[in-house]
Amino acid sequence: MSQSSNLPSPASLLNLLKSRRSIRRYKPDPVPDEMVEQLLEAGRWAPSASNRQPWQFIVIRDETIRKQVAQHAAYYFVRWAHVEEAPLLIVLCGDARSRVYRQFLHEDIGLAGAQIMLQARALGLGTCWIGGLDRKAIAAILQVPEHLEVVGLLTVGFPAEDPPPPPRKPLAEIVHYDVYGHRPGEEGARPGRVPGGALGILLRRLRIKVRF
Ligand SMILES: Cc1cc2nc3c(=O)[nH]c(=O)nc-3n(C[C@H](O)[C@H](O)[C@H](O)COP(=O)(O)O)c2cc1C
Repeated sequence: MSQSSNLPSPASLLNLLKSRRSIRRYKPDPVPDEMVEQLLEAGRWAPSASNRQPWQFIVIRDETIRKQVAQHAAYYFVRWAHVEEAPLLIVLCGDARSRVYRQFLHEDIGLAGAQIMLQARALGLGTCWIGGLDRKAIAAILQVPEHLEVVGLLTVGFPAEDPPPPPRKPLAEIVHYDVYGHRPGEEGARPGRVPGGALGILLRRLRIKVRF
């Protein structure tokens, strides 16, 4: 059987993507080991620059360590209560040793984190990416070696809330066709060709499109 025959339908995948929420209230129930394994498996299969897989995932279940980490999950004066409440934390670290690949580290770790969050959604778990962290303090608590950077932290657990989706910008505000500024829906969404040189600059400034 080909692998593609097991794929979710495009509609069900989109529904999963759209229905994932950042969860900030958790039930105390522990996350079963088989689920944790699936989350880590989802992270492991993320794409990465040159397939270097620069990630290390630290799974924290121990209550004392979770509480210590939660003390440093804060942004200025705002401390995230859900970090202490979540029964499971996953700290996402990236190997920052390569000068060449360090530039891709946050993309790589971000993609692994996104895959974990989506797999969690499929399992009925809630997650929240925590970026407001004292990374150095957390690295010290978790005895993270020097060459690894603490990039992010995920809270994980069974949701105790069902928050409404925060609004998203409409596509018309964020999508450009072929070059920046050509909006969908404008003149059939097919940009006219604008000549180069001084004439092109003038036409672009005046937002005039010319079809040849
Ligand atoms: C890089 C990043 C950092 C974030 N940092 C925090 C954070 O420190 N605390 C928090 O409660 N939520 C944090 N979030 C969650 C966002 O607030 C949330 O994704 C956004 O409001 C959209 O809501 P949704 O995830 O439910 O769609 C972060 C998300 C990302 C991607």
